[in-house]
Amino acid sequence: MKVINNKKELSDLIFAFKANKQTVGFVPTMGALHEGHLSLIKKSNIENDITVISIFVNPTQFNNKNDYNKYPRIIDKDIDTLKNVKCDILFIPTEEEMYPKEDTKVFDLGNLDKVMEGKHRPGHFYGVALIVSKLFELVKPHKAYFGEKDFQQVAIINRLCKIQNYEIEIIACPIIRESDGLAMSSRNMLLSAEQRENVALISKTLLASVEQSKSMTVSELKEWVISEINSNHFLDVEYFDIVNDSTLESIEDWTEREHSIGCIAVHVGSIRLIDNIRFYF
Ligand code: PAJ
Repeated sequence: MKVINNKKELSDLIFAFKANKQTVGFVPTMGALHEGHLSLIKKSNIENDITVISIFVNPTQFNNKNDYNKYPRIIDKDIDTLKNVKCDILFIPTEEEMYPKEDTKVFDLGNLDKVMEGKHRPGHFYGVALIVSKLFELVKPHKAYFGEKDFQQVAIINRLCKIQNYEIEIIACPIIRESDGLAMSSRNMLLSAEQRENVALISKTLLASVEQSKSMTVSELKEWVISEINSNHFLDVEYFDIVNDSTLESIEDWTEREHSIGCIAVHVGSIRLIDNIRFYF
């Protein structure tokens, strides 16, 4: 595994691989790597000759300074973790390297950044689009891998490719969960033991909501999910919405069931977790 901090060195190396007709897969991350990240890397390894991984805690996508400051940074451990999988290039840029001057780019993300995460974390998806566009233009991968844990992010990245004319195939990968159902997340390591025990209720309720959806209207189900989770005093639902999986607009009834997805954000003390579930069965 080659560890690189410098943009020029990265693009020269990738240019050489491509000149050699090797295909390049890319997995952008913010580190504190877990099995969710590794699943993306493993998929890239299967589908490409070369896999590039980036680790960069991107300041522009944090709308909350405290969240940015306490985001886990465990780079030495991440490098160790990556020894368990094939990783050809690990790119760890500095902030200077990615943001040498003020950015003026604008992205028309349509309705996609106005709802759910976009509504509750203003500016978040601009920051995501900005950093991913910089990384895509640098790595120029054939394929890039994203997790459906951040379902809205995948929709944003697909839109970004369309508006920026990137010829990159976006591969959406399934959510990897802990044994009790909790969606893996770098933020999980910030939970206290007591909080950790209680957060399992989030995925348990989402899973149960699929069964409930057979006998409830969409609005009844939304209320049910919110009240089940809020009944636990460690948990405070920020939003739960059931939306169309391509427009991200709220659905009114189950006629769109096969395109519906329920997305949730929950506050657990000062930590914020997201998850989602499909209602198609
Ligand atoms: P990060 O949260 O580190 O996630 C990196 C990638 O891993 C994302 O595509 C995310 O959806 C995926 N991922 C995280 N948890 C997962 C899980 N439990 N199962 C499957 N995939 C999972 O998402 C970001 O970083 C950033 O916004 C980034 C795209 C790197 C831009 O800064």
